[in-house]
Amino acid sequence: MPTALPPERPVPAPGPVDTSPISLTPAPGDDLDPIWKAVVPETRTRANDIHLPISLAYAERLCDSFPHADRLLVRVAIQLHDTGWGRVDEERILSEGFSGDWRKAEIRFEHERQGCAIAREVLPPLGYDDTFVQQVCDIIDGHDTRKEAYSLEDALVRDADRLWRFDPAGIALASGWFRMDPAAYSDRLETEIIPELLTAPAVAMATATLNRSRALLKTAVIR
Ligand SMILES: [Fe+2]
Ligand SMILES: [Fe+2]
Repeated sequence: MPTALPPERPVPAPGPVDTSPISLTPAPGDDLDPIWKAVVPETRTRANDIHLPISLAYAERLCDSFPHADRLLVRVAIQLHDTGWGRVDEERILSEGFSGDWRKAEIRFEHERQGCAIAREVLPPLGYDDTFVQQVCDIIDGHDTRKEAYSLEDALVRDADRLWRFDPAGIALASGWFRMDPAAYSDRLETEIIPELLTAPAVAMATATLNRSRALLKTAVIR
């Protein structure tokens, strides 16, 4: 069940906050493996096979910080949120999805719609009930194009969706998509993406990860 989102920004966390490198805490357990197996073809687009597992690992950490959140809802929603990219025209992803007013590009709405369609195809045969599937779709629908988060779970998915970009793997991939060098992209993470984060643990994780990535990639020098 979705949980009400407190009004404060960033939302303070009642639980622990882990800011160590994400590679130290891969998503545990194998209960989501049947879902992964069902969407392997959709993970081959737009580096979803890198983005989705890393963002799931961040989502698990955020749920540790907010133990009252519906953990399964957060985990399944982040796992499937971008699978819709696998069913849109790949040429248009780079031409429309990352340039101009890319947040409002029609292809962004299309990947959200397709992501919901994939959730409705994949989840019911694996035993997830209609109410749960609808809650997952409510988060997927608008995850990039809707301004506000509806619930705590929605906010945690949004933060996990952004956090992977602070990791060197995220900087490597996303800087290429936006045709920026790693140093310039790291600057953008600090000035544009950190202010978009909704929860205090996400801000702490993003800041610590960005500091490590900048040091590792020597962005102070290679610019
Ligand atoms: Fe997306
Ligand atoms: Fe995403």
